[in-house]
Amino acid sequence: MPAQDLQSIAAALVAEGKGILAADESFPTIEKRFTGIDIESSEENRRAYRDLLFTTEGVEEFISGVILFDETVHQSASDGTPFPQLLESKGIVPGIKVDGGAKDLALHDGEKVTEGLDGLRGRLKEYYEKGNRFTKWRAVINIGDNIPTEYGIKANADALGRLAALSQEGGFVPIVEPEVMMDGGHSIDRCYEVTARMLDALFGELKRASVDLTGTLLKTNMVLSGVDASERAGVEEVARRTVDVLKETVPDEIPGVVFLSGGQTDEQSTAHLNEMNKIGPHPWELSFSYGRALQAPALDAWKGESSNVEAAQKALYHRAKLNSAARSGSYTSDMENAAA
Ligand code: 13P
Repeated sequence: MPAQDLQSIAAALVAEGKGILAADESFPTIEKRFTGIDIESSEENRRAYRDLLFTTEGVEEFISGVILFDETVHQSASDGTPFPQLLESKGIVPGIKVDGGAKDLALHDGEKVTEGLDGLRGRLKEYYEKGNRFTKWRAVINIGDNIPTEYGIKANADALGRLAALSQEGGFVPIVEPEVMMDGGHSIDRCYEVTARMLDALFGELKRASVDLTGTLLKTNMVLSGVDASERAGVEEVARRTVDVLKETVPDEIPGVVFLSGGQTDEQSTAHLNEMNKIGPHPWELSFSYGRALQAPALDAWKGESSNVEAAQKALYHRAKLNSAARSGSYTSDMENAAA
């Protein structure tokens, strides 16, 4: 396979009308999702579920890349094709979650730091050979009384900088993902302030790490009121504040910002992205890299039954299509009920 330059991989991932499907749930996370539909998280159920998602006919019209979990990279579709190869054959770029999860930050109550850098250079080599062309690393930033601290932010930014440098050295586009969590009763102003601090620290660190921003994507949260806030901001305010924080902190060289859904409903996630693209143009593409907000309807329709696979695939196709419309600000809520 000819080596692709980082810029063209990044451009493909944020191509017009397309976004990323995050299907990189770790073992505990997929177990949580499967418990919700009352099925066991066995290796075969996980394989069958990812098979369903990736073999959805036409999904490549709206999905540019899929983030895989380590186990999935080594699994195959029912016809025996390894998953990364299956995606590639549909023109979808396979990528890999390489972090080892967010762990408690020592001596810092309530704060997390993401682990997984040790031995990463070697693991990246294997992932590259399997066809993966981008990496993802998620940092978790909790909002609470006196947190995040400067130390917490710095620890996470440092790890993201090292991840991005190692990824580019190995031929991968890094997707750097600082997620300011929605949990809590905080205001949208507080979310804005914390997101701005985190992104500022991140881009400072990427620069010090000599990372090429033109071959990097940012995956981040939208600026939202806390889930338990007494008053929650509406769609227009969320869109405006999110674009504002990006303009304040994200260099123009970044080809795209791909949002996580982070516990928003699928309709909210689509409506927010749509509104941001309506108030464009922006220096970067604004796209999606949703996990729950793309998969929830498919998971509900599937319920672990092979007789429901077609209905689940229809649900995924429909959700992906609506998010594709949100890429150009042309989504409307009437489209929710239109036939897939
Ligand atoms: P959600 O869209 O469900 O937040 O997942 C995206 C993701 O990749 C989290 O790391």
